[in-house]
Amino acid sequence: MTMNRGFITLGIETSCDDTAVAVLEGQNNVLSEFVSSQVNDHAPFGGVVPEFASRKHMEAILPLIRAVLKESGISCPENEIDLVSVTSGPGLMGSLLVGVMAAKGLVQAWDVPLIGVNHIEGHIFANIVNHPELKPPFLSMVVSGGHTEIILVRAFGDYRILGNTRDDAAGEAYDKVAKLLGLGYPGGPVVDSMASIGSCSRYNFPVPMKGRNEISFSFSGLKTAVLWEVKKLQEKGSEIPVEDICASFQRAAVDSLVEKLELAQEFTGIDQIALSGGVASNSHLRKTLSEISQRKKVDFFLPPPGHCTDNAVMIAAAGYNAFHRGERSDLTLAPSPSWQISNHM
Ligand code: KG4
Ligand code: ZN
Repeated sequence: MTMNRGFITLGIETSCDDTAVAVLEGQNNVLSEFVSSQVNDHAPFGGVVPEFASRKHMEAILPLIRAVLKESGISCPENEIDLVSVTSGPGLMGSLLVGVMAAKGLVQAWDVPLIGVNHIEGHIFANIVNHPELKPPFLSMVVSGGHTEIILVRAFGDYRILGNTRDDAAGEAYDKVAKLLGLGYPGGPVVDSMASIGSCSRYNFPVPMKGRNEISFSFSGLKTAVLWEVKKLQEKGSEIPVEDICASFQRAAVDSLVEKLELAQEFTGIDQIALSGGVASNSHLRKTLSEISQRKKVDFFLPPPGHCTDNAVMIAAAGYNAFHRGERSDLTLAPSPSWQISNHM
């Protein structure tokens, strides 16, 4: 039985180590979503192994597509799906290929339109799905294991990167610090929870790019400062105060994110700021932003944790919006591993 539904988009995300598929009705109504995380597969290596990631995507993608269709009550996709939206960059080449090829197969079989979406535009739309009241212009900060960017969203489809990282992404720094403390992978959630019971003033780690009148980030020096401190303690044979190191590292990392966010806000005068990416789940970051929001007249928007990290709902929503702006892809769509959402200002 075909239900009377709005515009239906199937979203596919495979840019890194999560295979995600979702069915979205219109811009906001999630009919079904599944994420198959590879986190346990990559954990023994302390980070994502690209070749392994693509193989895992291949195993997961078709069962996940079947599962979302079933859960959405879609039995005749050629009649019920209106659009297939897939992440086509940036990301790992082998991982992107699996999603893009699956999407191209589906649009041919179902005879429906295809759209290739920028992963970062997807993260921006994670907030649109969850906060329909959020309209451009607004600032978006994407902070994940692969990205640390502040983007000015002038209109949907009109993006300008105000700043990004010179070296490591914020999540990558969390992962590296966790690794050197023996806390496992991914590091963000465990460092965050250790930090909540530690002293953030015990170690005076440097706040990256502090006081510089430029919107850019750098996390590799902070990670090295943590490394030297740990080595020093090890050489002395002292016990490593893991909680205090996590709290002191987290203070410096979050101070840097917040300082540059405030700089971008002052620079543009825009008072709506949307955060997304895995690090946007960070408890200290969320607490600090809520304090700023009360102090200044700035509204912060955050997706729920499941939509901070990589998911296909955000890709379906970005594709839906792009399609209605008149954008289209065709069967020549190919992965674009270093696709920038826009150029620097
Ligand atoms: O967005 P995401 O799932 O994948 C990427 O596209 O990278 O983000 C994963 C990253 C990892 O580096 C992880 O350590 C970090 O987000 N992360 C956190 C927290 N939860 C996840 N970092 C800090 N605090 C957290 N609570
Ligand atoms: Zn991401």
